[in-house]
Amino acid sequence: MTTHDATSPQRPDPWELPDVSDLVIGVLGGTGDQGRGLAYRLARAGQRVVVGSRAADRAAAVAEEIGHGVEGADNAECARRSDVVIVAVPWEGHARTLSSLTAELAGKLVVDCVNPLGFDKRGAYAIVPEEGSAAEQAQALLPDSRVTAAFHHLSAVLLKDPELERIDTDVMVLGESREDCATVQAIAQLIPGMRGVFAGRLRNAHQVEALVANLISVNRRYRAHAGIRLTDI
Ligand SMILES: NC(=O)c1ccc[n+]([C@@H]2O[C@H](COP(=O)([O-])OP(=O)(O)OC[C@H]3O[C@@H](n4cnc5c(N)ncnc54)[C@H](OP(=O)(O)O)[C@@H]3O)[C@@H](O)[C@H]2O)c1
Repeated sequence: MTTHDATSPQRPDPWELPDVSDLVIGVLGGTGDQGRGLAYRLARAGQRVVVGSRAADRAAAVAEEIGHGVEGADNAECARRSDVVIVAVPWEGHARTLSSLTAELAGKLVVDCVNPLGFDKRGAYAIVPEEGSAAEQAQALLPDSRVTAAFHHLSAVLLKDPELERIDTDVMVLGESREDCATVQAIAQLIPGMRGVFAGRLRNAHQVEALVANLISVNRRYRAHAGIRLTDI
């Protein structure tokens, strides 16, 4: 049995997460596989979601296809309308997209799910960004935003499949502020089957992003859509 000294402060319960139901969630690059999948799952769970695109009409068309009240806007308007903004653009467009949105993203909670990967005839491999990781590049480019990293290991195929009620997987959430991470963990947990798990500071985002190269190998070998589960928590 665990006993607690009445005079020592109780450790806060790490599974106690905030209510995020009022937050508007934007998805930059929300017309792509990952963004569209996340938008669909979050909207299906009852959240207000705005998908962003470089072209407002593309975003509007995808929003209509997704349904569940999802709105579409160009990336800048998507960022303005949202409280929490998920970055779901390809690594090649990451720096340019974020540099063009510093004003719109100021004061916002940004969630980076970008995996810097290269592909050659031997398969996928991790790229090491100059800043250490995509998430650290985002924080360097967005000094007035609070950057977290999450949702790297999800399969867009599973996210988009309307037949699947649950996606049983863990979402590792990294960031400098426990409060911001808790918000993102709570957002992950809006999706049935998902668990949001605090996984450290942004300086450790590189290996979380890079792990996707391994998951791609797993998927090819086993013809699967592998995710991750952390044990003993
Ligand atoms: N696919 C997955 O299963 C998965 C899982 C976890 C994480 N991720 C990460 O999520 C991100 C998006 O993946 P994805 O598969 O959805 O990619 P994607 O479909 O290739 O691209 C997403 C969207 O980004 C926009 N885009 C394309 N090139 C761009 C550029 N150079 N600059 C700015 N925007 C650009 C496009 O939207 P518009 O043309 O409408 O602007 C596109 O629809 C990647 O960084 C990936 O590492 C993907």
